[in-house]
Amino acid sequence: MKKFTMEDLMAYCSQYGFIFRGSEIYGGLANTWDYGPLGTRFKNNIKDAWRYFFIQTWDNSYELDSDILMNPAVWEASGHLAGFSDPLLDCRSCKTRHRADNLINEYNSEANADTMTQEEMLHYIKENQIPCPKCGKSDFTDIRQFNLMFATQRGVTEEGAAAIYLRPENAQGEYVNFLNVMRTMRTKLPFGIGQIGKAFRNEITPGNFTFRTIEFEQMEYQTFCRKGEDEALYEYFKSYGIQFFEFLGIKTEHLRHHDHEKLAHYAKAACDIEYLFPFGWGEINGTHNRTDFDLTRHQEYSGKSLEYFEEETKEKYIPYIIESTYGLDRIVLALLFEALEEEELEKGETRQVLRLSPSLAPVKINVLPLIKKRHAEKALEIYKGLKRKYMVSYDDAGNIGKRYRRGDVIGTPYAVTVDDDTLEKGIVTVRQRDTMEQIRLPYSELESYFRDKFQF
Ligand code: GAP
Repeated sequence: MKKFTMEDLMAYCSQYGFIFRGSEIYGGLANTWDYGPLGTRFKNNIKDAWRYFFIQTWDNSYELDSDILMNPAVWEASGHLAGFSDPLLDCRSCKTRHRADNLINEYNSEANADTMTQEEMLHYIKENQIPCPKCGKSDFTDIRQFNLMFATQRGVTEEGAAAIYLRPENAQGEYVNFLNVMRTMRTKLPFGIGQIGKAFRNEITPGNFTFRTIEFEQMEYQTFCRKGEDEALYEYFKSYGIQFFEFLGIKTEHLRHHDHEKLAHYAKAACDIEYLFPFGWGEINGTHNRTDFDLTRHQEYSGKSLEYFEEETKEKYIPYIIESTYGLDRIVLALLFEALEEEELEKGETRQVLRLSPSLAPVKINVLPLIKKRHAEKALEIYKGLKRKYMVSYDDAGNIGKRYRRGDVIGTPYAVTVDDDTLEKGIVTVRQRDTMEQIRLPYSELESYFRDKFQF
């Protein structure tokens, strides 16, 4: 079976309307991408799957939509203003900028720069004369910490303006609304707040298509609990993440846990779920035991008590938080790699097929008149009927084989073909994308046939 490279997938996404280069007609903007009509639907279906898995089927689980722009004090409290940075250095020869940890990890994958201090990284780079990936010389500046948050100005004039930031993670919106959600939902610990939303990071390293972008979407889930419950919940979310990815259609052997040795300033334990991309293993989810760090800091900086009062024990305490965050754009990418296949057929023919789970497919059913002149009217009537319930397409251009292939390549799980039997006996053909099997059934039964085929 053909292995698709990142370049293959980029070409596929652009050709079929999944993902386009950001600001393409202006030559693009590094590490930005726009989702096309099919990519947008696909992404929305993944969001629905996440909602099903994390909100709908759970008790005490609430969704939030907090603002991207927040009071700057939030980022002081969270530690992002002081510590959310990458160690960068410049090549004096060709003037390109690089991340010190990446230079080391790419030079020697055993070196583990993640556990080194800034001084240790600089020493390692100099001692090993690590070459610049662009020009090959080894002449770097000192390492400087570069904050990843995008700042903008709030205010009418520049002089009177105050800096505000595009959020680098969704999480803080959930934390500052912890009391609001608890009060209005009349809930008790443990409970969860989930949110799907954009985050922004001034990433300078090459993006690997949508793997690393400066604007991306996260599906975050925060569980507020009492101390002592945190460790079991942390383990639970680690394995629930694998279940979620398997549900989306990722093979178990393409997933692994990666426990962190070097922890972020807020975490007591952290673990990623990684997917095996063509460029190697890459993080698609992060689960952290954030302890009571965040709420304690927000209590301190806001002056507002964020303590929880437990009626049974009459105890007051700051809840612990277990966070499990999913990178939506990386999941889109992983699922496309997982599903796209070039299949060998009989007589040396091949077809490209996107074997997405039917629930995630951007288009569910493709309605086809066998002969446009004769069958279009009935086919359009069936198309309009199905359209009320599902995302359906209608295709009357070219021979039927080509039209089946057009549905296969974008992952449409079913095709309904209208022919003379439809006009005379009310019978249509339903073709299945993966097996290419065809069944005949009365079109009056289409609704019940499709009823349990899609979850979202
Ligand atoms: N609130 C915790 C948090 O933001 P993170 O590990 O920095 O944790 C969570 O990010 C997820 O967001 C990652 O697992 C990844 O899937 C995604 N992500 C992070 N940076 C990204 C970027 N520059 N481009 C695309 N996705 C990114």
